[in-house]
Amino acid sequence: MAQRVALVTGAMGGIGTAICISLAKAGYKVVAAYHPEFDKPAEWEKEMAAAGVKGTAAVAGDVSDFASCQKMVADAEAAAGPIDVLINNAGITRDRMFAKMEKDQWDAVISTNLSSLFNMTKQVSAKMAERGWGRIINISSINGVKGQAGQTNYSAAKAGVIGFSKALAAELAAKNVTVNAIAPGYVATKMVMAIKQEILQGIIDSVPMKRLGKPEEIGAACVYLASEDAGFITGATLNINGGLHYQ
Ligand code: CAA
Ligand code: NAP
Repeated sequence: MAQRVALVTGAMGGIGTAICISLAKAGYKVVAAYHPEFDKPAEWEKEMAAAGVKGTAAVAGDVSDFASCQKMVADAEAAAGPIDVLINNAGITRDRMFAKMEKDQWDAVISTNLSSLFNMTKQVSAKMAERGWGRIINISSINGVKGQAGQTNYSAAKAGVIGFSKALAAELAAKNVTVNAIAPGYVATKMVMAIKQEILQGIIDSVPMKRLGKPEEIGAACVYLASEDAGFITGATLNINGGLHYQ
């Protein structure tokens, strides 16, 4: 079988890096999509090499911008061939209690965390359906499942990611293209490290496993959902949260 191609957005962030390493080690040709303002792609490639991964292609683009995604996916296809696996992972937080939340904080999170799924998936889903095989994996969050004070924008977007995944799963199931969401709990990346220390400690204390998730635990789940073995799983949301919340 030809080597499958996986395109990962937010690839140079904490969870994205782990997803790229896990997929590359599982035999995928990985294309790392990164934000154009990220100024250290060469350092990231060194990090990948140190992890034993070489030959990853990289493409730059803004997932909140449709035209940028069109170009980014065209660049990815030119570098690696048709996209078999899309992992919509890029995301941001702009946490604030709703009473104080500004319109630009709402808009930034909705466009980066939710509209990005339209912008990216639109570039690949019809082609996957035509080829009769595809995997679309969308990174949601525990806070899209349960809601989180201080995150009306983020919880709305991440709940939207789950709704999007279920609806598109129904549309593409007959074409052998699966669409699933992963809802991580609190994982040790810069996104979580930005939470005030005393609040973060309270969160960790409330996790039954008393620890943050590891990025590679999300990478491993992506490898499974992308695999042939997961071919009958679609429209699902996989919770990975150390027991913090059950659906
Ligand atoms: N539930 C209900 N009310 C709360 C609350 C909670 N969990 N936390 C605070 N409040 C209340 C406070 O009691 C306070 O009320 P009063 O004004 O009546 O006194 C009010 O909300 C304001 O609270 P703060 O003083 O904390 O407000 P702040 O402006 O300093 O901070 C915040 C607001 C930035 C949202 C901060 O509370 C925070 O960082 N909370 C954590 C949010 C969170 O979990 N973010 C996850 C980020 S990581 C991520 O998103 C990854 C992922 O997917 C898991
Ligand atoms: P992270 O380290 O901050 O990574 C996020 C990545 O997304 C960064 O590389 C960032 O690039 C990129 N990005 C942001 N806006 C973008 C845009 N407009 N266009 C292209 N790329 C953009 O955070 P993370 O923890 O790895 O988060 C990855 C995903 O997991 C996010 O969707 C997040 O919501 C989700 N998640 C995280 C946790 C957690 O606890 N960490 C839990 C549940 C879900 P720049 O940094 O260069 O801007």
